[in-house]
Amino acid sequence: MEKTKTVYESEEFRQMLQSASAMKEPPEKDGSLRQAWFLHRCRGIVAGREKELGRKLTFLVVTFGCQMNERDSEKLRGILQMAGFVPSQSEDADFVLYNTCTVRENANVRLYGRLGSLRPFLRKNPSMKIALCGCMMQEKDEIERIRRKYGYVSLVFGTHNLYRFPELLCSCLLSDRQIIDVVDKDDSIVENLPAERTYAFKSGVNIMFGCNNFCTYCIVPYVRGRERSRQPEEILREVEHLAEDGVVEIMLLGQNVNSYGKGLDHEVSFAQLLREVEKVDKIQRIRFMTSHPKDLSEELIEVMKDSAKICPHLHLPVQSGSSRLLKLMNRHYTKESYLDLVRRLRESIPDLSLSTDLIVGFPGETEEDFLETMDLVRQVEYDSAFTFLYSRRTGTPAASMEDQVDEETAHERFDRLLALVQSIGRKRSSRFEGTVQRVLVEEINRQESGLVTGRTPHNLVVHFPGDESMIGTIVDVLLCEAHGFYYMGKRVADAS
Ligand code: SAH
Ligand code: SF4
Ligand code: F3S
Repeated sequence: MEKTKTVYESEEFRQMLQSASAMKEPPEKDGSLRQAWFLHRCRGIVAGREKELGRKLTFLVVTFGCQMNERDSEKLRGILQMAGFVPSQSEDADFVLYNTCTVRENANVRLYGRLGSLRPFLRKNPSMKIALCGCMMQEKDEIERIRRKYGYVSLVFGTHNLYRFPELLCSCLLSDRQIIDVVDKDDSIVENLPAERTYAFKSGVNIMFGCNNFCTYCIVPYVRGRERSRQPEEILREVEHLAEDGVVEIMLLGQNVNSYGKGLDHEVSFAQLLREVEKVDKIQRIRFMTSHPKDLSEELIEVMKDSAKICPHLHLPVQSGSSRLLKLMNRHYTKESYLDLVRRLRESIPDLSLSTDLIVGFPGETEEDFLETMDLVRQVEYDSAFTFLYSRRTGTPAASMEDQVDEETAHERFDRLLALVQSIGRKRSSRFEGTVQRVLVEEINRQESGLVTGRTPHNLVVHFPGDESMIGTIVDVLLCEAHGFYYMGKRVADAS
């Protein structure tokens, strides 16, 4: 895949690194200066190993799960690169880090499969280090399993101490023992660590961490901790730096962006934050996820309606169309209030694209409940939808509910729902055929090198003739033919 890599380090961090390099001992106070000290130390260790081996040390970070994890991985890669490691395309690397997810059982199964497949590389390169971090590492049972069965894993850390990665990396490089450092709770937000961006022209920006909603099926609040928002000034500073660095599209990230700002000394709403972000000159497109329907305000609808930069696409997970199940899921809205919200959104933003998440087979789901979901999907006509089979997560309230749906019934419903969302999605996504859209060019087409691939504001994928020089620019493209979920197009200048 064609990707432009860039390591972004803030001026603040660069200065910290400089001051840290003059200190004999690490600062005792936790925070970015202490981490800068350890990063400096890592650089020395990596440079020493390089000399011994006569080659650069390589790393690979593999991400499982959601955009939040993707963003965390960019930070981890940024730190590894600053420590002196160079990126590897395969798992045959000196340092392999898996950033894990545990939202559904199969995420865990995949991780262990992948971990097992690392053994041959380890045999070939005994000084290879394998590290695990992320959501799954916040679960005690998994830590026990790794301790017992995966002795060859060198380092394990969780979601709350990710910012301490330079320090943990340093210990790991100096020790042959397995290091497990997972804490249950850490409410501090450490700013200014470096990050590597997968794309030069677009970036995720965390606006908040954790989740307070406790949907009864979901493990995220247990592994990511309580909701905490970043200060708006810090977010704006990051967005401004990114814009200066060539970023034109940002995605504001949080488990429930609509409750952004609660608990800050000076409370700010998400809509207010968006208004500020919009003022950053060079940013041309703003996206955000995820929006919880229960907290989506009129003010946000207004801001979206008035904005030239906020993309007309909203991911609005509904989970189920049965008000009875929504109550059991602790979602705080009904089928009717969700449909009303969709109606208000579409009234204000007529062209809006909607996507969603749906769960099939939640405990107690009857055929009737399921038909309510099918009905809601027909009424809303989503542009796209992620459908999930309910997965029982130990420790969540739904795991101990009675009437768990048997697998066969759940699969059968899943197939019916998938067929429906796909046929509606195909139809909806074709509605722009024959129109000209502004397309942000993201990469050279993966199959055909004479084509480039980009996205419209509605988040639709378009392939059209072009070359590498167009990557990161926004161009007018005529969407000639709709092919299900993507288009073939022509640049308007070449279209006649
Ligand atoms: N915070 C976001 C979603 C985070 S998890 C939100 O509330 O929308 C992403 C999706 O995974 C959820 O929307 C849900 O559809 C799905 N999911 C979460 N827990 C699940 C479980 N136990 N089984 C199946 N799907 C689940
Ligand atoms: Fe999970 Fe609900 Fe929080 Fe989303 S809002 S992360 S589904 S608990
Ligand atoms: Fe998975 Fe953690 Fe995201 S559990 S979905 S990676 S918040």
